[in-house]
Amino acid sequence: TTYNIGFLVGSVSSTSINRRLANALVKLAPQANLNLTEIPIANLPFYSADHDAEIPEAAAEFKRAVEAADGVIIVTPEYNRSVPGVLKNALDTASRPWGQNSFTGVPSAVLGASIGQIGTALAQAHLRSILAFLDSPDLQQPEVYLQLSEGLITEDGEITNDSTAEFLLGWLRAAHAHFELHARSNG
Ligand code: FNR
Repeated sequence: TTYNIGFLVGSVSSTSINRRLANALVKLAPQANLNLTEIPIANLPFYSADHDAEIPEAAAEFKRAVEAADGVIIVTPEYNRSVPGVLKNALDTASRPWGQNSFTGVPSAVLGASIGQIGTALAQAHLRSILAFLDSPDLQQPEVYLQLSEGLITEDGEITNDSTAEFLLGWLRAAHAHFELHARSNG
């Protein structure tokens, strides 16, 4: 089965290396029977409880996209040893109003790239605990902590190293199995 997967990029930088990684995943995904479509987060207003009474249209659209997906992949950098604010804002937006958490039961898979050796490990650890609270089963293994050296992935998502391409394809196949395991009967 081919699954329709939404993806979030936790960086709005015009030179984002995580955007490069996401572009690479989009290209590899068909080989793992996944169809990846971005769910944009850059246009979301800062979440406020004031929105609960009347959800802003951008937030409502974002929530609908998460709910409609067969699963969500989150590609994120690590900022100051944690999840970037722009991504946390998107997750907070999806989680509310209380009782209308869009991530409930939606399976997820996280990965990230950094320029340093830590490879977003701490950001992903924080992200996994957020997803646990949001009741989104997330892929446990394999983990991807990618140190993105200059030239490893081109801007349009071409991977220049065969073993990295194999590794990421293997991860996408594991993600497919995870989405299958948690496939929701209501779509
Ligand atoms: C960083 N960077 C970083 N890297 C890391 O491995 N651990 C960290 O805690 C941080 N903290 C951090 C904070 C802020 C505000 C910035 C701007 C950067 C470096 C980071 O890995 C690098 O800038 C990446 O290029 C960020 O990913 P994107 O935005 O290019 O996808």
